[in-house]
Amino acid sequence: MTASRPARLIELPEVDSTNLHARRLIEAGETEPFSVRADVQLAGRGRLGRSWISPAGGVWLTVACPTARSPSESEPVPLLAALAAHATIEQLLPDAQRAELRIKWPNDILHAGRKLAGILCERVAKTGRAWTMVGIGLNADVDVESLGVTTRHPVSLRTLVERAQIDPSAIGHRLADALHGALAEFNAEGLPRGTMQALADRLAWIDQPVTLRRAGSAGGEPVITGTLAGVDARGRAVIRTDQGHKHVISGDLDEHTLRLEPAQQSDP
Ligand code: BTN
Repeated sequence: MTASRPARLIELPEVDSTNLHARRLIEAGETEPFSVRADVQLAGRGRLGRSWISPAGGVWLTVACPTARSPSESEPVPLLAALAAHATIEQLLPDAQRAELRIKWPNDILHAGRKLAGILCERVAKTGRAWTMVGIGLNADVDVESLGVTTRHPVSLRTLVERAQIDPSAIGHRLADALHGALAEFNAEGLPRGTMQALADRLAWIDQPVTLRRAGSAGGEPVITGTLAGVDARGRAVIRTDQGHKHVISGDLDEHTLRLEPAQQSDP
């Protein structure tokens, strides 16, 4: 892809999941980078096997790009995606709101500690050619009450900016351009210099107590409890613990507080 030619963006009123739709297009023989955005997803998918509720008003988008990078070389892709999404969403916010926009390792976008967007990166390698897919879900003009309990502490862009300014299609185009740009640069040149520092500068809960749960064990016992020290050169989260520094490649990071959830507080 050349930087001057935007990739094709397919816009659909409704789909099961934009990641699944993109996968089907790849398997049907797509050759050029493309994106899929849907107004509504009926079976949106989140990280760690979770579902992702996707009503009208959100930005549900998947960016797909062929890659010559191996799976291990592609380890930083979720982090690059988070940085590109953070930069794009930051531009949508009034100046006063921007400092609160943080990246929750590896790639959630939080505003004031609440989840504004999530990212699901997948690799497809069934056609003799490997593809990177970056799916992003942004709670744009969405009533967070309608998201149920699948997203903990969600926030919607509509509480941060004028609702009249929120156009899911326009935001989808901006996010798609930014993500395609980041993937094309990474495919051609590798990790841009300064990536990990940029990530560390935007990280949520840096120097704060955190817990890490193993992928798929959300709600279960924490695997690691300590203080978030940053990210290493490979983009792994570094957690300072009583047993030394732990470098973690995957899992579910959370603030470590002793505060009880409201439902638990009302229990006798
Ligand atoms: C997460 O935080 O768990 C990741 C959520 C990713 C949701 C997006 S919405 C567009 C794309 N299609 C999907 O089915 N999932 C991703």
